[in-house]
Amino acid sequence: MPQILVTQPAMFEKVPLAPPDAILGITEAFNNDPNEHKINLSVGVYQDESGNTPILESVRRAERLVLDSQTTKRYLGIPGSPDYARHVQHLMLGTDHEAVAAGRAVTSHTPGGTGALRVAADFIKHNLPGTRVWLSQPTWPNHPNVFASAGLETQTYPYFDADKNSLTLGILLEAIAQIPRGDVIVLHGCCHNPTGIDPTVDEWQQIAEAVAERGLLPLVDFAYQGFADGIEEDTAGLRALCRPGAELIVCSSFSKNFGLYRDRVGALTMVAGSAEAAQKVQSQVKRAIRCNYSNPPAHGANIVTTILSSKELTRLWNDEVAQMRDRINAMRGLCAETLAAKGVNRDFSFLTAQRGMFSFSGLTGEQVDMLREKHSVYIVRNGRINVAGMTRANMDRLCTAIADVL
Ligand code: LMR
Repeated sequence: MPQILVTQPAMFEKVPLAPPDAILGITEAFNNDPNEHKINLSVGVYQDESGNTPILESVRRAERLVLDSQTTKRYLGIPGSPDYARHVQHLMLGTDHEAVAAGRAVTSHTPGGTGALRVAADFIKHNLPGTRVWLSQPTWPNHPNVFASAGLETQTYPYFDADKNSLTLGILLEAIAQIPRGDVIVLHGCCHNPTGIDPTVDEWQQIAEAVAERGLLPLVDFAYQGFADGIEEDTAGLRALCRPGAELIVCSSFSKNFGLYRDRVGALTMVAGSAEAAQKVQSQVKRAIRCNYSNPPAHGANIVTTILSSKELTRLWNDEVAQMRDRINAMRGLCAETLAAKGVNRDFSFLTAQRGMFSFSGLTGEQVDMLREKHSVYIVRNGRINVAGMTRANMDRLCTAIADVL
């Protein structure tokens, strides 16, 4: 066959190189580092005391049950399985919550929490024209990208006082009162990413009051349920926001608490003012899903449904989440102690007040670069450290490296 001459202009030649992802790009760099003592504390992935990311025993058992009982690989419906949706609502709000009983809440299974955020963003863009999205300062670096990709304008509100290493509640409440009525405010349900600083139950009530008074639509990013104080305890913020008649969007992820990272299991829950409005909203969510990924992958959601349908597996899963939470908290204490023992002047006791996987260390971008170049210790450039990657074995080396760059 004679070769056909290419006459098309080389359009790909003009495509610029994109920068590496602020979080996942670090793991790519880590994988290329030949240092055998390298430490990756960037992406939010749990590691056990041996540095492994284990498959939970509850997940293993449920997975066997799923494999033995499944009979087909037909498509799921656009929002996924109704059983899964019911369990997600019960896990977040409880079995007898008014919004659930009234049919005001509709849930779709999405590929991970990021999938839920993107579907929510598409929904907002197409159905709530002119709405802006307000993000905490700081926030997860992918938040602005997800909303911008859907064509939404993002703004920021103050959240964190770096000097006091705490929530700026007064300033936050004042800022909420200034956000234009009808805009969306993104709140982290628990284990704020990246600061690890959450409102107390009383502060959540004040935030929920301010959001309702101002007429904002809250979007709760709920990716770490169980990692702060407990599965039930960590719903305090969500429940404060989910008031009678109030509208709400919840983007859940089960990557961390079920350890199902690569199975991409998440959910988008829309809470409307009435069951009738909820059905209309769900029809638009289905439209957004259909033109994005059509319908969700079943496997991970089947595992979650199997665990949450069994009292025994749910008990086991609760224990496993508690073990992960306790190990992370033990590492917080050990890290603060080890840094002090190494003569570091800066007080790192705030580590133990933070919750969830992350700690906002206060290290500067230059110090982060030095940690990586000199010590092969990888953390996010905003100073966020994944505490869940610390172990008794790597703690000394890690703290020596931090002491050195300080
Ligand atoms: C993180 O913040 O590290 C996690 O949410 C994982 C991710 O996708 O960025």
